[in-house]
Amino acid sequence: MTAPAAQPMIQVMDLEKAFGANKVLTGINLSIPAGSTCVILGGSGSGKTVLMKHMIGLLKPDHGRVIVDGEDIVPYGPEDLERVRRKFGMVFQAAALFDSMTVYENVSFPLREHRKELKEEEMREIVKAKLAIVGLKDVEERFPADLSGGMRKRVGLARAIILEPKIVLYDEPTTGLDPITTDYVDEMILDAKKMLGVTSVVISHDIASAFKVADNIAFLYQGLIVAQGAPAMLRHSEHPAVKLFLSTWFGKN
Ligand SMILES: Nc1ncnc2c1ncn2[C@@H]1O[C@H](COP(=O)(O)OP(=O)(O)O)[C@@H](O)[C@H]1O
Ligand SMILES: [Mg+2]
Repeated sequence: MTAPAAQPMIQVMDLEKAFGANKVLTGINLSIPAGSTCVILGGSGSGKTVLMKHMIGLLKPDHGRVIVDGEDIVPYGPEDLERVRRKFGMVFQAAALFDSMTVYENVSFPLREHRKELKEEEMREIVKAKLAIVGLKDVEERFPADLSGGMRKRVGLARAIILEPKIVLYDEPTTGLDPITTDYVDEMILDAKKMLGVTSVVISHDIASAFKVADNIAFLYQGLIVAQGAPAMLRHSEHPAVKLFLSTWFGKN
């Protein structure tokens, strides 16, 4: 007997988006099961970030539906979107930490905004627990500039998960990193999935990372998801754009 398929956490249906004459997304269909990691892979400028912005309602589609945890968010106004966005944690390319604040101040920032009832000691405990999840200890009083690039990413993730989101979005988490730091960030994404049980969406053009962290890869090309499936399946895709894109990496390895 096969296990029942997990409920989709995010479903994108027939999504179209143009900016003027620039048709960026021309009919995206994508289903991301709860608890899984989906990598949206595609060349630079292919529309990955635009697709991600639709998932948190930062952009409205010209056509189509975006269903998050059972709710179609497309018609939603600011109040409902604010509520839905609390289900997401975001990890940005440049960890986007505040340089003048300590790690503790950075990570506790969302708590100060959204959990005003908490006492300082309670915040300390929560921050410590989240730092432990991302593999960091005794870094609370340090400043971002004193940390390695990989550690900054982990602090960024600790802040992203501080309000206990169901979904973590990573936009180009390994772009511009050296190979060792890339490995460290890939491990972080895998650990977050395992320890938190979150649904993860990773936007990337990094093939090696994609193959390491993904349960499913969706390949975005000319406004469409032209191939979708487990990494091993994608590896054998017959789509010319996928073959060409993958050959740039597998060709050399
Ligand atoms: N707010 C916007 N207004 C106009 N064009 C945009 C906007 N955001 C993105 N684009 C265009 O959409 C295309 C895809 O961009 P993007 O999603 O950022 O690509 P990437 O796959 O590199 O993340 C690009 O041609 C970009 O110029
Ligand atoms: Mg992008």
